[in-house]
Amino acid sequence: MNNYYKHIGKVLISSEELDKRIGELADRINTEYKDSNSLVIVGILKGSFVFLGDLIKKINIPVKVEFIRVSSYEGTSSTGKMKLNTPFTGDIKGKDVILVEDIVDTGLTISFLNDLFKKEQARSIKVCTLLSKPGSRKVHVNVDYEGFKIGNDFIVGYGLDYNGMYRNLPYIALYNQKIDDK
Ligand code: IMP
Repeated sequence: MNNYYKHIGKVLISSEELDKRIGELADRINTEYKDSNSLVIVGILKGSFVFLGDLIKKINIPVKVEFIRVSSYEGTSSTGKMKLNTPFTGDIKGKDVILVEDIVDTGLTISFLNDLFKKEQARSIKVCTLLSKPGSRKVHVNVDYEGFKIGNDFIVGYGLDYNGMYRNLPYIALYNQKIDDK
C-alpha cells in the first residue's frame, strides 16, 4: 500500500486549484454555447473521465455527453498513428462538439479526432484540455479551452495514469520513475 505512493513526487496542481480553474473553463463554455441547442461533449478515454465528470457538473446549459476511446499503435518504433479502439457510435452530425482531453502532449490524438469529426460533419469542433505540454508537440493543434500549461515532466493523478495506476489521486503530481521499488 505505501509503495503505491513511493513514486509520487511534488504536487503540481492541488485539488483546490483544479476546482477553481475548471469552474472558469465551465463559465466560458456556459457563456459561449448558451445559444447552441446541440452541444455534445466528447470525453477521450480513459484519462479524461475525472476532469469531464467535474466539468459537466459545472455546465448549466443543455448538453449531451459521449465518450471515445483511441490509442496509438506502436511497432518496434512508435509510428504515432492513431486508431479507434471501438467504433464511435455517437450522433454528432450537425452538432457543436467539444473534445475533452486530460492532456495534450504530442497533439496526435486531438489532430486525429479533429479529422474524424470533420468527416462525421460536426457543425463545429473545439478542444478543451485540462493540461497542455506545449514543449512536446509533434503536430500543431488549436486548443480552445486550456486549464494549465505544464513542462515536459511525466505527471499522474486526476485521471492521468502510469500503467493504469494513480488515476484516483485528487491532485496532479510528478511521477518519479527512478525510485527503487524494493
Ligand atoms: P497526445 O497529445 O496524442 O500525445 O496524447 C495525449 C495522451 O498521452 C493523453 O491523453 C495521456 O493519456 C497521455 N499522456 C501524455 N503525457 C502524459 C503524462 O505526463 N502523464 C500521463 N499520461 C500522459
